Amino acid sequence: MVKSVGKPVFRSPSDDFSLYMGDALKLLADFPDGSVDMVFADPPYFLSNGGITCRSGRRVQVDKGGWDRSEGVEADFRFQAAWLAQCRRVLKPNGTIWVSGTRHNIFSVGFAMQRLGYKLLNDITWYKKNPPPNLCCRYFTHATETILWAARSEKSRHFFNYALMKKANLGKQMQSLWTILPPRNSEKLFGRHPTQKPIELLERIVLASTQPGDVVLDPFSGSGTTGIAAARHGRRYIGIELQPQYLDLSVQRYLSETHTHVTDEVVDVERPPVASGLEPLPMLLTPH
Ligand SMILES: C[S@@+](CC[C@H](N)C(=O)[O-])C[C@H]1O[C@@H](n2cnc3c(N)ncnc32)[C@H](O)[C@@H]1O
Repeated sequence: MVKSVGKPVFRSPSDDFSLYMGDALKLLADFPDGSVDMVFADPPYFLSNGGITCRSGRRVQVDKGGWDRSEGVEADFRFQAAWLAQCRRVLKPNGTIWVSGTRHNIFSVGFAMQRLGYKLLNDITWYKKNPPPNLCCRYFTHATETILWAARSEKSRHFFNYALMKKANLGKQMQSLWTILPPRNSEKLFGRHPTQKPIELLERIVLASTQPGDVVLDPFSGSGTTGIAAARHGRRYIGIELQPQYLDLSVQRYLSETHTHVTDEVVDVERPPVASGLEPLPMLLTPH
């Protein structure tokens, strides 16, 4: 794993699941060149700008957090280009990157990727059945997200587990339209992240583009879904996240997934609230 970077806030006993707290742009700068096999990034979509949406049948303002506010088209593009450049540097020559987004950010992300020299491989459409209704009735109901898949460069000989994807699609070539349900309640046992991705989506991505033992990086790790998919399939994981409460959620998900027990290695500080009926876990994160 990456050793030269500052201390992670959490590292699994087997050293295959590490979480760093802070700004991805700053932390990525310390990661060594060519050290990562695959990146999955679910960056800010910059859509928390006063719009209205429907949640659980109620009219609510779109507010995922301060990190999701747009600073304008140019500034948003500079941000996307900056982290994408760092990710390209840390990718191995044959490595690939997946980036999810919507109309709010995906064109900016795609343009930045083209400018940086990535080779775009696929634009996956993730179709969400039963999306929330469109309340103003002036647009089509938003029912999809786009996930761009790209190799580090035109020269990359990227890995694609074609046979497994075909098998998973009952013997037919898998298409770029993926119908996957939003995260189930069982994926939110330890708390809620406002933009949590379904584990099924990340498992497909991990299995399609990595091999056991590969290093997977998620610079906007959130509740750690990418890490859970990586752990489930024997890949090593590095996650970066700004918010301590989401890092803690990730640790709880990881411990539950792997049945790892809390040991003296793991620091025991104030624990966050957990869903009722669950065995309480100590909060494992201490800012070092
Ligand atoms: C779209 S969410 C990712 C959700 C994640 N895929 C999941 O399944 O839980 C983006 C995350 O990036 C974090 N974030 C935003 N800006 C960041 C930055 N500059 N560096 C690190 N994390 C950041 C936010 O706190 C948020 O949790």
